[in-house]
Amino acid sequence: MDMATLNRLLESAAAMVNDDSTARHKGAFKVGIDLGTADIQTLVLDAANKPLACYLQWASVVRDGVVVDYHGACDIVRRQLQRAGRRLGIDISRAATSFPPGTDPRISINVVEAAGIDVAEVIDEPSSVAGLLQLRDAAVVDIGGGTTGTAVIERGRVVKSLDDPTGGHHITLALAGHHQLPYDKAELLKRMDDSGDVLAVARPVVEKMAALVRRHIGDHRPPAMYLTGGCCALRGFGDIFATEFAGIEVITPARPIHLTPLAIAARADTAGRQQLRAV
Ligand SMILES: Nc1ncnc2c1ncn2[C@@H]1O[C@H](COP(=O)(O)OP(=O)(O)OP(=O)(O)O)[C@@H](O)[C@H]1O
Ligand SMILES: [Mg+2]
Repeated sequence: MDMATLNRLLESAAAMVNDDSTARHKGAFKVGIDLGTADIQTLVLDAANKPLACYLQWASVVRDGVVVDYHGACDIVRRQLQRAGRRLGIDISRAATSFPPGTDPRISINVVEAAGIDVAEVIDEPSSVAGLLQLRDAAVVDIGGGTTGTAVIERGRVVKSLDDPTGGHHITLALAGHHQLPYDKAELLKRMDDSGDVLAVARPVVEKMAALVRRHIGDHRPPAMYLTGGCCALRGFGDIFATEFAGIEVITPARPIHLTPLAIAARADTAGRQQLRAV
């Protein structure tokens, strides 16, 4: 998939976040659930990967690779699936889910199954992005709320996948410390920033992330690096990575917070036949 097409899909997902208005869908659909450390997202796509519904709830139910609030996670997933089902007039019985490399896939599987649906597929996060973009030789770098993960793809195969516990959370901590703000206020300040001022404070953290990615990549020489994860939406983030990785083409998609969930949903099968619901 080319970047212009991908960016259109991501913009479209962003425009429908938590939109419950009715948009009846007939035909096949695919559902992906991303349990992250900062938020839980459920995306529903049509067979051509066009977003039909997108739900995002900020939630700290996963930390350091474990679900610290199991019931909270199940409740959020169940509610997102119900809302998507109501919006589209579909019954969702299967979904794909994911896990960060090096963590236990059963965490996500258990939560999704507890929400009452079958797991169609469970896939590691960078591989889902590599698959969606049909990458042959590249790196996928996923920087979310809690982690920086790198996958190296060579000749279409993921040959290396590593993860370190530094993410957007640490940028918020740096901002809170610098401005003497409560964590939640610093988090909002970070997400709302369109001036680039946040980067002045965040730069050392972003440079640390780049150092982690450099270590992950090691001796590999990917010609391109695709950024994903909400942290990469920070204004100026991609520029720092481009400077740090001169010689590698650094690509930041539009709305990177939705890329991993979109890629997960794209991997779900389309067998979940649509059934019109008697309302
Ligand atoms: N516009 C923005 N600018 C900067 N940071 C942002 C922006 N939007 C979201 N974020 C940050 O992105 C992070 C969430 O991204 P994402 O949903 O990819 O993480 P996650 O999947 O929950 O976490 P992880 O992958 O580490 O488990 C949060 O730290 C949030 O503050
Ligand atoms: Mg994530």
